Amino acid sequence: MAKKEQSQLLKRIEAGFEFAQQQVRRLVERYPDYLPMYTVQGKWQHTGEKWTNWCEGFLPGMMWIFHEETGDRYWREKAEHYSRLIEPRKDDRDVHDLGFLFYHGTYRRWHEATVREGRPDPALREVVHHAGRTLAKRFMPAGNYLRSFVAPDSLFVDIMMNVPVILLTAVETNDSELLDVGSKHCATSRRYLVRGDGSTSHEAMFDLSTGECLRQTTHQGYRGDSCWSRGLAWAIYGFATSGRILNFIPWLETSRHCAQYLMERVSADPVPPWDFDAPEESRRQKDTSAGAIAACGLFELADAQQLVGEKEARQRQHLKEVGLRMVGALCGPEYLALGDDHWEGILKHGVYHRNKGLGVDESVMWGEFFFVESLQRALRCLRGLRK
Ligand code: GLY
Repeated sequence: MAKKEQSQLLKRIEAGFEFAQQQVRRLVERYPDYLPMYTVQGKWQHTGEKWTNWCEGFLPGMMWIFHEETGDRYWREKAEHYSRLIEPRKDDRDVHDLGFLFYHGTYRRWHEATVREGRPDPALREVVHHAGRTLAKRFMPAGNYLRSFVAPDSLFVDIMMNVPVILLTAVETNDSELLDVGSKHCATSRRYLVRGDGSTSHEAMFDLSTGECLRQTTHQGYRGDSCWSRGLAWAIYGFATSGRILNFIPWLETSRHCAQYLMERVSADPVPPWDFDAPEESRRQKDTSAGAIAACGLFELADAQQLVGEKEARQRQHLKEVGLRMVGALCGPEYLALGDDHWEGILKHGVYHRNKGLGVDESVMWGEFFFVESLQRALRCLRGLRK
């Protein structure tokens, strides 16, 4: 990327980061202690159905990122306060989302902040480990996967984003049983959810007695054999993180395979449609959250490859450039709510559950979080290039 293009992109991303802080400040001041999931016509507070409970770590997660980048005490106090609100969820056996809650969003970041400050707090790390051990109880030994929240015979691709809390716990506590559970889950997900062309299925169904995989299906995608774009993004990012934590190249290869599919399918506008295989008319509906997650996943993959010592510098550079292009597009007027005073979210045109009609063409809390994380990663990447 030429120097001039880099500096224009940097300005655009800095403006996006500033705007994200304004919107989150507005949200917490308008609705204190409220942990929303998606907007309805741009407004956070409503009584719309949730389907499941998985988003409560994302608001504090943004606060941690704002604090990491600015050092502002306001964000630190809010981040600690909002993280504490979800601590009891470390025992939640009803959802498969404890990685979203404790790895991506809250206590891992909090613990790492204390490490950076030279006063590591083991109690914070223990909350992460506790969540990892709770999540591992979802393991189904016949099929070798962590069951989704919907049923024991169901495996979701989303769980690839949660398995890192188990893997991290396994590595940090030297627990071979947890390592086995997490590794088997990754292997089963790769075998039954990732297809030969790098596309992904949302869900796989298993025979509970034999552990045999029966079919691929979906809840939030267009069809069982289609590629729901957010699921693909979860796979890119989840396999990259799992490979990085374990220093294990096959998971990085799976992430790269999925990334390749994404990069071949996105057009001049790199923000993906909600499902790559939906009919053309329907594909006009973008899912900005998928774009934000995928961008983070591309940066994560590039960094992980470097850590494990992969030599392919050109390929890493390419992943970062596509990531930057996606973040730059998300910061454009089509997607960023900047200038729309009525809109309470940061990023427009996200999709939660199109088939149920929930959060369609709205701001969605995970889209907000991964967008903010993608801004952080892009800022660090661009500032690194300037040095
Ligand atoms: N449940 C995770 C998702 O909607 O992507």
